[in-house]
Amino acid sequence: LINIYVEQEDGERITLEAPTDMGLSVMEVLKANEFDVQALCGGMAICATCHVEVLQNEEELPEMSDDEAYMLETLPHATANSRLSCQLRVTPALEGLVVRIMPEAH
Ligand code: FES
Repeated sequence: LINIYVEQEDGERITLEAPTDMGLSVMEVLKANEFDVQALCGGMAICATCHVEVLQNEEELPEMSDDEAYMLETLPHATANSRLSCQLRVTPALEGLVVRIMPEAH
């Protein structure tokens, strides 16, 4: 298990425990914990309703695919640290990841 943190609007961070041996994405972990993440395309990198901003741990993240980068470019709320949470596989490298769920996810 690793810990992932979700930063709320008031700055409070909610701790989630995520298994690293199930091939889950961060999106799936967020949904399993009942965060408001629509993830309409189910993880295909074509809907962007799983958009998060990574506040900590950017160095450890997997490379972005062209599809993900292209999708992020279209989003009004994208920042330099935006990612599609469905494209982030939960691995030990993600220990301590801090994300903020972005408006496109709702
Ligand atoms: Fe659709 Fe991530 S769930 S892009």
